[in-house]
Amino acid sequence: MQIRPFQPVDEESVIALWERCELTRPWNDPRRDIARKLAEDPSLFLVGVEAGTVIASAMAGYDGHRGWVHYLAVCPDYQRRGLGRQLLAAVERALQARGCPKLMLMVRNEHPTLIDYYRRQGYDDGDFVTLGKRLIADD
Ligand SMILES: CC(C)(COP(=O)(O)OP(=O)(O)OC[C@H]1O[C@@H](n2cnc3c(N)ncnc32)[C@H](O)[C@@H]1OP(=O)(O)O)[C@@H](O)C(=O)NCCC(=O)NCCS
Repeated sequence: MQIRPFQPVDEESVIALWERCELTRPWNDPRRDIARKLAEDPSLFLVGVEAGTVIASAMAGYDGHRGWVHYLAVCPDYQRRGLGRQLLAAVERALQARGCPKLMLMVRNEHPTLIDYYRRQGYDDGDFVTLGKRLIADD
């Protein structure tokens, strides 16, 4: 798998990947999410490509204190081959190169097994609750 920054031509395949991986939610319009990311540090929005097809994605950012990664996805046909691990490692390297001291991610309560997946890759549960407030409604 080749890892490279997202390009606008990838939009439809990335949205199809997110839909297949069940990452889309009615309150997050994937097109608007992509447009926002293209306007804000798009170099940290990575895709994994195999034989010309987008098979993986990771949308990362650094706010000057913490890095965040969203939309980590590997096409179901390619899962459990180490590609998710490879892509997450690429995100970690890119953030480390910018001096980012810690990478954060959110796991939905509906996917408890994913917590083990991330723990095995060196992520631990913080002693905190993540709170959020919607500023722009997409739905
Ligand atoms: C989560 C996801 C990105 C993992 O990608 P992947 O390429 O299958 O993962 P890898 O092959 O790199 O797996 C690395 C390790 O985690 C394990 N693992 C993979 N998926 C797992 C899961 N769902 N639960 C627990 N462990 C898992 C693998 O067995 C492997 O362990 P090992 O190194 O000890 O053999 C992929 O399953 C996915 O896209 N899921 C749907 C979207 C999603 O939920 N994304 C996360 C949003 S927070």
